[in-house]
Amino acid sequence: MMARDPDDRNPASKPRETEETDTTMATAQLEDELITTEVETGSTERAGRPDETVVATTGLTVHYGDDQALWDVDIEIPVHKVTAIIGPSGCGKSTFLRSINRMNDQIDGCRIGGELHFHGKNVYDEDVDPVALRRKIGMVFQKPNPFPKSIYDNVAYGLRVQGKDDEVDLDAAVEDALRGAALWDEVKDKLDESGLELSGGQQQRLCIARTIATDPEVLLMDEPTSALDPVAASKIEDLIDELVEEYTVVIVTHNMQQAARISDKTAVFLNGGELVEFDRTATIFENPADDRVEDYITGKFG
Ligand SMILES: Nc1ncnc2c1ncn2[C@@H]1O[C@H](COP(=O)(O)OP(=O)(O)OP(=O)(O)O)[C@@H](O)[C@H]1O
Ligand SMILES: [Mg+2]
Repeated sequence: MMARDPDDRNPASKPRETEETDTTMATAQLEDELITTEVETGSTERAGRPDETVVATTGLTVHYGDDQALWDVDIEIPVHKVTAIIGPSGCGKSTFLRSINRMNDQIDGCRIGGELHFHGKNVYDEDVDPVALRRKIGMVFQKPNPFPKSIYDNVAYGLRVQGKDDEVDLDAAVEDALRGAALWDEVKDKLDESGLELSGGQQQRLCIARTIATDPEVLLMDEPTSALDPVAASKIEDLIDELVEEYTVVIVTHNMQQAARISDKTAVFLNGGELVEFDRTATIFENPADDRVEDYITGKFG
């Protein structure tokens, strides 16, 4: 059965203590690129075979101080698919997402255990540069967080800090990224205007353009539509459908229908930070193995 009414559990109005962190992290993700070296990733072939794993964790644990937020997570995320992460508030979805590109490194007291492989290489090995890793695994946050710069400069930002603005045709790269984020037609005549003057949905697509401009392989999206109206959210969903041709998408959502609509696989985390079930999305929503998953997606708790 499909979930009944997902939106009544959508916590878009819950207090967010993370907005500033999100902007800081987005900046950190794009800055200091000049000093980085290429992360060793094994194969960097974009066109993966169906169900080839791009990110795999074994026994992944995350602690914040004495509190354990994730317990022994084993998961294999397939390349060029949309993987949805669902579960009640506080179950560790954002923590899990941030562990994939080592954004948790920036949180004091956060400790990671177990292994997290990107193309077979443990990203927590000492020789992996987290900044280079974040260039391969970009992140889009819940609240659109364009920089207070022009639309053009937002998209060009990452290429400039990487020093690539001499190597590439910046105008063409900006246009490509904006087209890739389905925003070009709406902004092509006002590239010099501030990104902050766009609507919320446009700002989120601008943030997606900013992220894909530096050519990542994986896009992590943490509730990317929950601050948007339904029309803007639907545009992002359509966009994700297109993005997955070129990227691997991992999306956290509280919206069950959204997960069911757009994802190929769904991971269900439950309270305490346990990955309870991970399977094809149709299986999770129609015939989950775990009773707790069935209870959660039918709204009995969470
Ligand atoms: N920066 C932090 N410092 C300390 N504890 C944290 C931090 N971030 C998250 N936690 C704790 O880790 C647990 C998981 O939080 P997380 O934000 O990953 O949950 P979530 O599933 O994303 O929740 P939501 O749906 O509300 O976004 C919670 O108990 C939370 O209080
Ligand atoms: Mg979260």
